[in-house]
Amino acid sequence: MAWKVRKKKGENSEGNRRFQPSFVLAVLALLALSIYLFVSAPPPLADGQNTSGRTIKAEALLDMVAAENDAFRTLYTKNIVGPGLKQGFLYDENWLKRGAQSGPLPAVALRGVSVRLDRSKVGLGLFLGAAFAINRGNRFEGEQLALFQEIVADKQPRYFRDAPQGLWVGMYPDIAHAKPCVDCHSKHPKTPKTDWVLGDVMGATTWSFTSATVSAEEAVVVLGALRRALSETYKSYVDRARQFEDPPAVGSDWPSACRCLPDTQTFMAEVFRISSPSTTRALFDGFEG
Ligand code: HEC
Repeated sequence: MAWKVRKKKGENSEGNRRFQPSFVLAVLALLALSIYLFVSAPPPLADGQNTSGRTIKAEALLDMVAAENDAFRTLYTKNIVGPGLKQGFLYDENWLKRGAQSGPLPAVALRGVSVRLDRSKVGLGLFLGAAFAINRGNRFEGEQLALFQEIVADKQPRYFRDAPQGLWVGMYPDIAHAKPCVDCHSKHPKTPKTDWVLGDVMGATTWSFTSATVSAEEAVVVLGALRRALSETYKSYVDRARQFEDPPAVGSDWPSACRCLPDTQTFMAEVFRISSPSTTRALFDGFEG
């Protein structure tokens, strides 16, 4: 049985690979944290073990990246797409076509994140699937569909080992937190379901990783790769928007207030503000040993 844990090859080739100050800052901050935790912090008293030998289980790593990505996606949906639509901005599947005057839908932005993670080669994979999918390629099947039905029932993540592909996988409920999720999915011409309501589990964000555990240092590298992928994905939209026939202002304001978009730094600072408490908690809770 083929588990769906990755986008299909060649599905999306957007974006650029330039380095960004916000990414550099994020990584520096994380490195500083890891250096503090694993180099300068006093060794634990009781067991006398060196802290740098500690590892984080794949499940804890996946929990951490899932929470960061969730912050990005919810913020993008609630504070960009929702108010953006009211400002007359467009969001669709074809935003990368030449001359398009639109931005990426949340799920399409997520695919941009997934493609960039693949390129970063840190071993982290991302796939967004569902039972009632607008895009047939996103539909879960067989055993994975059964697992997804359990998630729909109790809204809890499920973890499993995909032995044939050598992956540790976590499936997380993708819940309709924001009204635009429900409205757009119920009205889309290709939707197989027209009565979504807020709070529904619309799909499962499926994260995979290539080993059972990582060192804390490796976890920081993986997290850095995710933050870079998120940041570049948002930036690719802003860069496009600047080329529109009637471009929005780009700066420190949000589309709820004006015909404008926050720049990458402003947007990502808000993502990190939301996700940092849970990321820090996950880093600490994830340690074994
Ligand atoms: C403006 C329209 C729009 C909004 C807003 C939107 N989506 Fe989607 N969503 C789509 C489209 C179109 C696809 C299919 C994209 C593709 O893969 O080609 C999709 C894909 C998905 C998928 C993968 C399964 C599928 O249907 O193909 C899930 C799960 C999903 N969206 C959940 C959400 C959630 C949760 C939100 C809010 C946080 C949201 N969507 C907001 C239009 C939208």
